[in-house]
Amino acid sequence: MDYQLCPSILSADFNRLGEQLRILENEGIRYLHIDVMDGDFVPNISFGMPVIKSIRKESKLFFDVHLMVTAPERYIRDFVECGADSITVHVEACEDLERAIEMIRDANVKVGVSLKPATPVNDISHLLDEVDLVLVMTVQPGFGGQKYMEECTEKIRELREIAEQEDLDFDIQVDGGINDETIETVIRAGANLIVGGSCVFNGDLASNVKHLRKRIDQLSREAE
Ligand code: DX5
Ligand code: ZN
Repeated sequence: MDYQLCPSILSADFNRLGEQLRILENEGIRYLHIDVMDGDFVPNISFGMPVIKSIRKESKLFFDVHLMVTAPERYIRDFVECGADSITVHVEACEDLERAIEMIRDANVKVGVSLKPATPVNDISHLLDEVDLVLVMTVQPGFGGQKYMEECTEKIRELREIAEQEDLDFDIQVDGGINDETIETVIRAGANLIVGGSCVFNGDLASNVKHLRKRIDQLSREAE
């Protein structure tokens, strides 16, 4: 299984964004987690297409775009055009989730679906063979720096079990409240794509990434 640390630029220093992306690339990061918030689906507004378009010119990282946006179907084409490599939509935000999945697939990027903490795995179990990634939110979406919600761990386990039983190969991504302790919880439960905002960008970026990647490496070897 491919285990990756996915730094979330929501916690980056936007005054030094280009420089910070180069540090991430030099440290061997492959995924960049990009949180788009509309002030409607979540009570916060982050950034949108112009920022993504601008960093796309400078970066070869895999752009993992997490849309916290109501009716995201309206914008799938725009995000693909500005450089997304995968698009993750919220189950709770789509009027017709199957249609949204189809639109993302037709645009030739990877398909992700995300569950808020209160949304059960059961809501997407019939669609798991159609997605590349399931994002389990481990905080209420909207803000960085929140505390990991323990009650979400069970959903990670449940998804890993389904993937194994049904021989499906979607990635399980976790997002929110990841730190030195919770990283162990989520990898043991079966997550393989680990989003980190504060734990990556607070303090020294290069040494945080070195430390977290080493930790993921160790924990994933124990988990396999
Ligand atoms: C929250 C975002 C996260 C956020 C995580 O709605 O989706 O990606 O940046 O930040 P931390 O790691 O600080 O909880
Ligand atoms: Zn996110």
